Amino acid sequence: MNIPEINFPNLDPNFIEDPYPHLKTLRESSPLHKDLNSDLVLVTRFEDVKGVQTSKAFSSSEPEDSNTFKRSNESSENYPYFWKTEEFSLLNLEGQLHGDLRGLVAKAFSTRQVQELRPFMETKSEELLNNLRGNSFDLLADYAQPYSVSVIGKLLGVPEEQYDNFLDWSNKIVKMYDLEVSSESSEEAEQAAKDFYYYISELIDIKSKDPDDDMISRLSQVTENNQKLTKDQIICTVILLLNAGHEATVNTIGNSIVALNQNNISTKNLNTRYEIKKIIEELIRWDSPLQFFQRWVLEDTSLGGFDLKKNSKIAILLGSANRDELAFKNAEIINFERDNLSHTSFGGGVHFCLGAHLARLELEVSLTNLFKSEIFLVDKPVRTGAFGIRGYKEITVVC
Ligand code: HEM
Repeated sequence: MNIPEINFPNLDPNFIEDPYPHLKTLRESSPLHKDLNSDLVLVTRFEDVKGVQTSKAFSSSEPEDSNTFKRSNESSENYPYFWKTEEFSLLNLEGQLHGDLRGLVAKAFSTRQVQELRPFMETKSEELLNNLRGNSFDLLADYAQPYSVSVIGKLLGVPEEQYDNFLDWSNKIVKMYDLEVSSESSEEAEQAAKDFYYYISELIDIKSKDPDDDMISRLSQVTENNQKLTKDQIICTVILLLNAGHEATVNTIGNSIVALNQNNISTKNLNTRYEIKKIIEELIRWDSPLQFFQRWVLEDTSLGGFDLKKNSKIAILLGSANRDELAFKNAEIINFERDNLSHTSFGGGVHFCLGAHLARLELEVSLTNLFKSEIFLVDKPVRTGAFGIRGYKEITVVC
């Protein structure tokens, strides 16, 4: 049986605005679809997405004998710094190297270290919101971005005067992760990766000589079984922590407030009507800030009743899986009393989000503070246009 072929409408503004009705049609007609534009097989159902995340037949790193490997190498020649910052990104690694590196990074990123940031998060969130309440403001640029970048900056130990550069580099680099990337965006990402690389490299030198109580210092010192992280591994990790952590958290805050508003759910004291942890999980399930991740097929295998060939590429659609009626009853409805909270938005298997504990705490502090008042949308917010990283350009609100 052949996998049904489609032209996935990832550039269509109507689809980006609300992809879920179309994803539902796809999901209910077949578990897999082949997108003729990207050449990816799209995995739409919850069970299959979970299956891919936990199976050894799929890999986040490209097999060297794949026919796209040469093309990727050519691309790495054109954008050497972007690829240099990706070389040791946990997201792209598998096997022993991934396990060793993840173990070392996790040691420097414990639950206790994250919990110690709670008072800082509370003060920062209050400070920002106190200055904004009563006026109309952009929830993303004026609140969520400075909040999230200051938390990650504090965790890593980056001086505050660099936060604007951080935001700029991060915004440019993450554009490389969408399904289609223009050459202009690729060139901007390359320059951002170069600046970011040299900045972090210098910071590591400073912190290696004079360590502080922050994550860059811990990453420079952490050991396990006589292993230490190399400088390039630390640089890639710091860049990943900023990019992976910042964009998804900011977009979750934005997507959540808009979702509540558009579903006529009052924000005021929402956390006294329902448990805050359940509110957060349900909002991340309902509109996932990261919609897809790619995997290579390592061996001939089958999925959802179809055959997949070795070295082909697939994309697991997290947002679609989270709306699968076979996994979540009345999946289209926001329900803070849902029993099943096991959505796919934080991934699964060996690549499960390493920063989920930080993201959950950041969201808990932030949303608890935002829920002190009613939040109204001043204008209809406009989506960024990207499918993979799902968010808004701007969200004007009053509260
Ligand atoms: C709401 C916010 C967040 C969401 C929805 C999210 C989601 C995800 C997902 C889906 C993956 C798995 C990717 C894959 O399967 O290939 C992942 C991996 C990862 N995330 Fe997050 N993330 C969030 C926040 C954060 C934060 C705050 C950090 C750290 C500062 C972080 C660090 C990471 C890292 C390091 C990985 C790679 C893990 C690995 O490959 O072993 N994330 N995240």
